[in-house]
Amino acid sequence: MLKVKIAVLVSGGGTNLQALIDAERAGIITSGEIALVLSNNPNAYALERARAAGIETAVVSRKECPESFEERIIAELDRHGIELIVLAGFMSILSERFTSRYPERIINVHPSLIPSFCGKGFYGLRVHEAALEYGVRVSGATVHFVNEIPDGGKIIMQKAVEVKDGDTPETLQRRIMEEAEWKILPLSCERVSRDILTAKTNND
Ligand code: GAR
Repeated sequence: MLKVKIAVLVSGGGTNLQALIDAERAGIITSGEIALVLSNNPNAYALERARAAGIETAVVSRKECPESFEERIIAELDRHGIELIVLAGFMSILSERFTSRYPERIINVHPSLIPSFCGKGFYGLRVHEAALEYGVRVSGATVHFVNEIPDGGKIIMQKAVEVKDGDTPETLQRRIMEEAEWKILPLSCERVSRDILTAKTNND
């Protein structure tokens, strides 16, 4: 069966990448296949996860040559025939030049209910620190398309997660990952991949 080629862009631990790998194995993702895992951080544990799953990896570091960072990413994506880009804990903001090249072909998982606690400066544990500081009783995760506005693209899926008394940023982060991110990211990937396949078939 024809499948959409997916690249997963990562920077760190890669638990969301693992959820995608597991979902592909479990048959939750059937319309797409992870063909590439690309990291901007050579030490990202996510790269180990990709290698263990037999997925091709690439490292493109911004530090080495900041001017050509996005061009080098685009070259890797082209080389692998990538049709869908998934940002799964990718901690580098992509420019409008990059995002406009892939309209509704880049998706991101964000660990809050957008439009709360999102945008520039809100990433990783900082998001949960801000949610706890504000005192919200419900947080969650959002999967959305990526455009030129950080965390501003069209929402694909959201899932709410309860904040519990005594939560720390770490316990809240873990609950949101387990109950929301690791579920809605694979489901969103499947939905968007299926839509890409359908559009392709209709154009044939
Ligand atoms: C996840 O919680 C993801 O939602 C968040 O970083 C973590 C990465 O974990 N992303 C952002 O904050 C993006 N703004 P992982 O590497 O274990 O998937």
